[in-house]
Amino acid sequence: MVQTIPGADRPGTDLIPQRRRLVTAVPGPKSQELMARRTAAVPPGVGTALPVFVERAGGGVLVDVDGNSLIDFGSGIAVTSVGNAAPAVAAAVAEQAARFTHTCFMITPYEGYVEVCERLNRLTPGGFQKRSMLVNSGAEAVENAVKVARAATGRPAVVVFEHGYHGRTLLTMTLTAKYRPYKAGFGPYAPEVYRAPMAYPFRWPGGADRCADEAYDRFVDLVTTQVGADQVACVVVEPIQGEGGFVVPAPGFLRRVADFCAGHGILLVADEVQTGFGRTGDWFASTFEDIEPDLVTTAKGIAGGLPLGGVTGRAELMDAVHVSGLGGTFGGNPVACAAALAAIDMIEGEDLVGRARRIGELALPRLRALAERHPQVADPRGRGAMLAVELVRPDGRTPDPALLADVVRRCAAEGVVVLTAGTYGNVLRLLPPLVIGEDLLADGLDVLDAAVAAALA
Ligand SMILES: Cc1ncc(COP(=O)(O)O)c(C=O)c1O
Repeated sequence: MVQTIPGADRPGTDLIPQRRRLVTAVPGPKSQELMARRTAAVPPGVGTALPVFVERAGGGVLVDVDGNSLIDFGSGIAVTSVGNAAPAVAAAVAEQAARFTHTCFMITPYEGYVEVCERLNRLTPGGFQKRSMLVNSGAEAVENAVKVARAATGRPAVVVFEHGYHGRTLLTMTLTAKYRPYKAGFGPYAPEVYRAPMAYPFRWPGGADRCADEAYDRFVDLVTTQVGADQVACVVVEPIQGEGGFVVPAPGFLRRVADFCAGHGILLVADEVQTGFGRTGDWFASTFEDIEPDLVTTAKGIAGGLPLGGVTGRAELMDAVHVSGLGGTFGGNPVACAAALAAIDMIEGEDLVGRARRIGELALPRLRALAERHPQVADPRGRGAMLAVELVRPDGRTPDPALLADVVRRCAAEGVVVLTAGTYGNVLRLLPPLVIGEDLLADGLDVLDAAVAAALA
């Protein structure tokens, strides 16, 4: 059961045994003490999904302050794809931090930033000439993509989708669909944002078979009758929706949206912040619908846990912004860039894209089997290592967030961290690190099986 972590032969990192092991209740006493300090020092607006304080982490295991080893099926929300504290990333960070930690790329530039942009230009979909810029987060990437789209088209409007999530800043909160917790009390929102239905097969009123056609018709109707196609700078869409519940759009829907955009001078922005960097079993999920977006936003899995985001787009669009119209003090920080280069090397060198596909091949059948056993587990879905099920009432459809909360609590108590998502708060999602060992994956899925059975008993 103890597995090695890919890349662990590199110097500088103590290994953490890749196994689940509980020595106290979860959360343990030290976590509870820290939670009391947290409550006194940090406002509740910054939520805590699991009140377990981490002391160290490696590969697919989190070790808490009480000495418990938990299986990580969340990767810090799709971030530590190369594994937590990946030895190659840790070494690159240490090396860069010892040389210089910051200059501000807009003041005195450095090679790492340029090299990350070169990699983004090469790896993102589309054979055309591209340019990239770097920022600190996914939200900042989406904000900047909209700035570029508006500057390049001279148009104001942005079209997004139901169930979409794009961040927590004023603009990206506005682009995000779900009201609570993301928007409640934080209005007024940014203007010129319009929302179309998403082709969500499991919940489409007319049924999954009619989903792609009907959702496309409603998208075209919204753009042409309510906004005006010639007013739309860009459509922003996640190729697989993340926080909205790992909604895989009905096949053909995104392709038709992309064609409509191309026909009306509307830029297509693929928000690949959650889906990017191998997570779905391809470098970018736009590839599954054969889409070459005009602009792609990235963050999360790009840098092995360091804060970094990017906007990559057609050169003529990115170049449309005037000199110094884009940037920020920390954007493309040299330490984060060093981490990104090490993480990208690892994704390529260890074929972590293939590993994501393998995780899907192993885990999706397990989720399907779970759904066959329990009518309350519905619509196993996702791609690669981005997988989910909906927890529902026995009717097989009505969302059951209380059941999900119970399952998540039982998993945590047995040492497995799983995440929630979904507009109705009833989606259980799995985002394991792509380096996770197959035994660890199987053990975590066994715990999930047992947790569902116990919650329904
Ligand atoms: C698709 C997508 N876009 C944007 C964001 C925002 O990223 P960040 O939290 O780094 O600002 C997220 C975060 O979950 C996301 O999933």
